[in-house]
Amino acid sequence: MSINVQTISSEFVELEQAYNAHNYHPLPVVLEKGKGVYVWDVEGKKYFDFLSAYSAVNQGHCHPKIIDALIDQAQQLTLTSRAFYNNKLGEFARYISVLFGYDKVLPMNSGVEAVETAIKLCRRWGYDVKGIKENEAKIIVCEHNFHGRTTGVISFSTDPSSTSGFGPFMPNYIKIPFNNLTALAEALKDKNVAGFLVEPIQGEAGVIVPDTGYLAEAFELCKAANVLFIADEIQTGLCRTGKMLACDFENVHPDILILGKALSGGTIPVSAVLCDDEIMLNIKAGEHGSTYGGNPLACAVSIAALAVLQNENMAANAEKLGKLFRLELTTFNHPLIKEVRGKGLLNAIEINSTDEEMAWNICLQLKENGLLAKPTHGDKIRFAPPLCITTEELLDAVEIIKKVFSSISK
Ligand SMILES: Cc1ncc(COP(=O)(O)O)c(C=O)c1O
Repeated sequence: MSINVQTISSEFVELEQAYNAHNYHPLPVVLEKGKGVYVWDVEGKKYFDFLSAYSAVNQGHCHPKIIDALIDQAQQLTLTSRAFYNNKLGEFARYISVLFGYDKVLPMNSGVEAVETAIKLCRRWGYDVKGIKENEAKIIVCEHNFHGRTTGVISFSTDPSSTSGFGPFMPNYIKIPFNNLTALAEALKDKNVAGFLVEPIQGEAGVIVPDTGYLAEAFELCKAANVLFIADEIQTGLCRTGKMLACDFENVHPDILILGKALSGGTIPVSAVLCDDEIMLNIKAGEHGSTYGGNPLACAVSIAALAVLQNENMAANAEKLGKLFRLELTTFNHPLIKEVRGKGLLNAIEINSTDEEMAWNICLQLKENGLLAKPTHGDKIRFAPPLCITTEELLDAVEIIKKVFSSISK
């Protein structure tokens, strides 16, 4: 009996469209398996995954050490809530706090919950330590930021597709241009500012890399103003940009560090906020929490996910292969490529075309040729493969990208 392969995918697409909210616009591919840098669709076609679930699968799909930890712990104990102690949370808390050089961690689940947590920690510090009058604390953020989707976090988004029809919004956020130290210095003159929240590289905005020295100088300006420097490394962290943290490139140790995504290597939602006691211990028992935050399954998986990043030299690989990726595509000199930019294996190509559908159409062609990538903000395509990718695999993927660009006329 012959099987109509097209029908297998379309059945899944139709089912999802019929019963699931339409809050995403996925490429028309239905995946059922993943291993390392590859994923397979339901028809058995193999693809390079150049999105890595928005950098959540840095360690590669179904990394055996992470999956082993998941299975072992799942058979032992998965959730206790924080009403009781469990025998994994302390071990995880020590591991991650020592690794990143902080006194303590506050574990959460999704990335945006960790951002919300960082904002609460910052405000509380602003009141209890800095002495800002109740309800007057402000936080400086950057235009074109992406920190997640809760009503609190979209209150300081500048992207109409995140905000339209979702108001009212929370006050007391000061929005300044990214990569602009003069604007930061000006905003820091306000004595009610408690924190500066920043992505070291703006991922969703299209992989916008700030000038060298921006983060270090921004950190110094914050110190001089007694303001907390809060780094959202949910997308840039955990070896993605070629070091454990993107802030490490400028030797910046954020006052509050936010992690998520690859903290579980793409298995379950795990996020974390790290800071020292002067900030962390202002939140007391009963004042913040999450039923699943710090659950033993997440803790076991997260320790394994961090160990894989360290033991398999993923930062060095990201740094080396990122340079190769950018070199290959900048020297390709194609008229449809306006710019190739990024750091480590967080890269984007900005498309040079007046056709608004061009980036999407290129992604469709890449898919046909065995590589999955997604446009971000219309005219940019992000390329972020798992960090376990080899030189040979990267060059094969680059060939696919070059072939697709060569086949499309401007
Ligand atoms: C920098 C940054 N912060 C926060 C988030 C939100 O994470 P989550 O989707 O897990 O809530 C994202 C997600 O893309 C992100 O890139």
